[in-house]
Amino acid sequence: MADEKRAFARRLAAESIAAGEPTAWFETLYAAAEAGDAVVPWADLEPNPLLVRWAAAAGRAHGGAALVVGCGLGDDAEFLAGLGYRTVAFDVAPTAVAGARRRFPGSAVEYVAADLLDPPAGWLGAFDLVFESYTVQVLQGAARAAAIANCGALVAPGGELLVLARAREDADEPGAMPWPLTRAEMEAFATGDFQVVHLEAVHDHEEPPVRRWTATLRRRVVESAA
Ligand SMILES: C[S@@+](CC[C@H](N)C(=O)[O-])C[C@H]1O[C@@H](n2cnc3c(N)ncnc32)[C@H](O)[C@@H]1O
Repeated sequence: MADEKRAFARRLAAESIAAGEPTAWFETLYAAAEAGDAVVPWADLEPNPLLVRWAAAAGRAHGGAALVVGCGLGDDAEFLAGLGYRTVAFDVAPTAVAGARRRFPGSAVEYVAADLLDPPAGWLGAFDLVFESYTVQVLQGAARAAAIANCGALVAPGGELLVLARAREDADEPGAMPWPLTRAEMEAFATGDFQVVHLEAVHDHEEPPVRRWTATLRRRVVESAA
């Protein structure tokens, strides 16, 4: 997303965080965009090419229950549903959820307004695939740490967590929103009973290319004592 497109979102983010409401600005931004007063800088209106690449490279049949975190206007959720997943997709911004429903009438995806920082109890450990792209990188501080931990909590035993995020080196400053993740932050998704199957930084298709993490983590099936 070009810098000029991000300026308004960055101002909203700064004001919201300063007011102690780290996620309030998303609804403000989507509502302003719907009124024609702003653009949502990350809304590409197509599935993420890194998700498409992951699906093609998986080398297995897709299916089961999938959850899309911070789904925005729904393109990644629709893509996963098209692969055969029973897909739930959620966003903290009700206007984003309404927009996704409107863009995809009759969709098989269940779109829900919900907060990753306080997810519905019934979602814990319930999904064979959890897909998180670019949500953690727009959060800071305690919200960021909680978001990382909660992604894992949503994965079923034996299930998979797929994470995409902007990448930065430990020594680099995070800069302005979006705030890229370090390797240590990516590894923090592997809390408790997760193992990292794959973690690498790749350069994407954008011009100029952006360095992004792609990570796949699998939740172990913990055998209960007989
Ligand atoms: C940078 S956008 C990325 C959107 C989409 N995942 C993508 O890859 O294009 C982050 C999205 O996460 C949503 N979001 C931010 N914090 C959230 C939270 N705590 N719970 C659910 N959604 C959240 C925002 O409203 C926004 O749609």
